[in-house]
Amino acid sequence: MSLGQRIHDFLQRTRALMKGGGEQAVQKQVAQGKLTARDRVARICDADSFHEYDLFVEHSCRDFGMDGKSLPGDGVVAGTGTVQGFPVCIFAQDFTVAGGSLGLAHARKITKIMDHAMKMGVPLIGINDSGGARIQEGVNSLAGYGEIFYRNTLASGVIPQISVILGPCAGGAVYSPALTDFVFVVDRISKMFITGPEVIKTVLGEEISMEDLGGARVQAEISGNAHFYAASEEECFEQIKRLVTFIPWNNRKTSDPFPPRPPRPGKHIESIVPDDPRKPYDIRDVVRAVCDDSDFFEIQELWARNIVIGFARLDGRTVGVVGNQPAYLAGVLDVDASDKAARFIRFCDAFNIPLLSFVDLPGYLPGVDQEHAGVIRHGAKILYAYSEATVAKITVIIRKAYGGGYIAMCSRHLGADFVFAWPCAEIAVMGPEGAANIIFRKEITGAADPDAMRQEKIKEYQDKFANPFIAARDGHIDAVIQPEQTRDFLLHAIRVSERKTEQRPARKHGIPPF
Ligand code: HXC
Repeated sequence: MSLGQRIHDFLQRTRALMKGGGEQAVQKQVAQGKLTARDRVARICDADSFHEYDLFVEHSCRDFGMDGKSLPGDGVVAGTGTVQGFPVCIFAQDFTVAGGSLGLAHARKITKIMDHAMKMGVPLIGINDSGGARIQEGVNSLAGYGEIFYRNTLASGVIPQISVILGPCAGGAVYSPALTDFVFVVDRISKMFITGPEVIKTVLGEEISMEDLGGARVQAEISGNAHFYAASEEECFEQIKRLVTFIPWNNRKTSDPFPPRPPRPGKHIESIVPDDPRKPYDIRDVVRAVCDDSDFFEIQELWARNIVIGFARLDGRTVGVVGNQPAYLAGVLDVDASDKAARFIRFCDAFNIPLLSFVDLPGYLPGVDQEHAGVIRHGAKILYAYSEATVAKITVIIRKAYGGGYIAMCSRHLGADFVFAWPCAEIAVMGPEGAANIIFRKEITGAADPDAMRQEKIKEYQDKFANPFIAARDGHIDAVIQPEQTRDFLLHAIRVSERKTEQRPARKHGIPPF
């Protein structure tokens, strides 16, 4: 055969494989409002940057009608490309081929590109659209998932791992994303569950739709499994492109700097926080008032809204922001807020991203529900994560910093490098009302006018403790600053801490309260 004939033959075979599961399956995919695997990769990656590998891989299953059955690419597209100029390794499961189900060959394509990402030190993006373990392949498909989970774990904290859920993802197809750093979902398209509606009906006799069980909104708002929620695939891809600009390629690098920009003109920072400490405000307004270009990229916006996390830039450098949200549940720490913040803090620490914490909270949420849900164990995660972190840690106490909440929110005692407080900060074991009721109980109940006595004692406690000066006197905070000085102090702190180093005792690993 001449070289020309060989090239002709090769092109024909390639074209056939690139059609995935065939015209009918592709039409079904498109009719559901979904893009094909190759379209998705092409739209996430920069134009013409994607290079596909392992197109000719085939399965070797002989059971249940699989003998000789062609599954193009074994149902997954894998390769390398660039996103916003950043190199990435990427794979996309092709639902048009056997429902994107995962057999051994399919899994080996994924583990190969994962190994590649680790060696090259570049982020991994996985697009999941799969019915889970390929039933016909039995234990081999379970083996395939196990090998993926193992690599997700080895890659954790070494390269950023991004998962995109773009279809019904069952079983193993959701546990791999759960081990990664960021999970993206799209309205009406993404479904995530371990046991599907059929199993639930059989085992529990309960009927539930796939959407209500594990649709995008459920995962972004109720379970917290998803970090980013989008109305369409296109919007989701824009979110991914934005995310990669904030994070470094790997744990040996820092995020690429951007040109520094001042915040956009907006609300004057002093007018954001109401004079009355019981009145709420949106902490994100404070973040936007101090960060470059007022650009705050929020993560897990819909879940555990009492704490806000996300990326911003100061002086062009990425910072990870954690802030109590007085506009939701008064910004208390609870089980979910602790989980949300702790994981994000660990991501930032692993990837050399300084932490900027804004404090305004009455403490941990009291109640039987929280105690029984394990607020001790979950709440401890945030203590652990902040204490463990060795990146620059900068804390701004805006208003309330009571009790365990004060300690937990990156206090000096958990290793903060800079602690600033606004003049309206109240740093105490608890709020003045609660404190007065406990320590002055006898005086209040024994007084001729208990209410007047209570008010007097509340004021006494307020004057003594509900201010930043006691903490400043004892060096627990570094400076009391005016609100409009906040950005200057933060920029300075970021510059000073650029080469921060902090050692920890040698150990195999810590044992966080998972
Ligand atoms: C083999 C599968 C498959 C699977 C789907 N298909 N899932 N083939 N193994 N796991 C095939 C279908 O047979 C069908 O093939 C094609 O993919 C499209 O599937 P449909 O059912 O027609 O699509 P749809 O109606 O959209 O339903 C999608 C679905 C459903 C909800 C994902 O297919 C489904 O429930 N699949 C099984 C999910 C599951 O329980 N997986 C195992 C999880 S256990 P044809 O040839 O007809 O087009 C697991 C173990 C690991 O993953 C756990 C680790 C912790």
